Amino acid sequence: MKIGILTTTVREGRNSLKVANWVLENGLKRNDGTTYEIVDLKDFDLPIMGLGTSEQFLEVSRWQEKIAEFDGYIIITAEYNHAPSGVFKNALDFLKPQFADKVASFVGYGGVGGARAIEQLKLVFSEYQVATTQRQVNLMLMVDFINMSEFAPKDYQLESLEELFVQTNKWAKALKTIR
Ligand SMILES: Cc1cc2nc3c(=O)[nH]c(=O)nc-3n(C[C@H](O)[C@H](O)[C@H](O)COP(=O)(O)O)c2cc1C
Repeated sequence: MKIGILTTTVREGRNSLKVANWVLENGLKRNDGTTYEIVDLKDFDLPIMGLGTSEQFLEVSRWQEKIAEFDGYIIITAEYNHAPSGVFKNALDFLKPQFADKVASFVGYGGVGGARAIEQLKLVFSEYQVATTQRQVNLMLMVDFINMSEFAPKDYQLESLEELFVQTNKWAKALKTIR
C-alpha cells in the first residue's frame, strides 16, 4: 500500500508541515509494509482554476499524476473560517478520477481540532467516491501547540493516530480489490 500524507496550507509560518511530519514519523515507526509519503501542496505552483500560465498547466498534470500514485490519503487540514483552506479546495478541483474507490482519513488542527473543516471535506470527498474513515485526529491549538505555533502533541493523540492508521490501511487494501 502507498499512502499520501497531504498538506493543505501554504502560508508563511504554517503548522501543516509540522503535523504532516509527525504523521509520517509515526507511520514509518509502524513498519507495516505501507509506504508513507508527504505530498506538500506548497511544492506545486497550481493556478487558480480557469486562470494560469502554460507552465502552471504542466504543474496541474504533475499534481494529478502525483495524487494518482496512492492507494489512500491522510489529509492534514487546518481550519480557515470554519472550512478547509481555499488553496486546497482549488487544488482538489483539478482532481477526480485520481481519487475514485480509495480511502481518505483526516488529521485536523485548529481551535476545535479542525473538526468543522473535516466535516466539510468529508462531503467533498463523497463526490470523489472516496471512503472516509470514522477515526480522525483532532489537534487543539490551545493544547497540542505552544503559543499556537510550536507543535507539542499530547501523548493520547498517538492512540487516535494509531487507530487512524489501522482504519486507513484496512480500507486501502479492501478498496484496491475493486479498482
Ligand atoms: C485565514 C485564517 C482563518 C482562520 N479561521 C479559523 C477558524 O475558523 N477556526 C479555527 O479553529 N482556527 C482558525 N484559524 C487558525 C488556524 O487554525 C491556525 O492558524 C492554523 O495553524 C492554520 O493552519 P496553517 O498554520 O497550516 O496555515 C484561522 C487562521 C487563518 C490564517
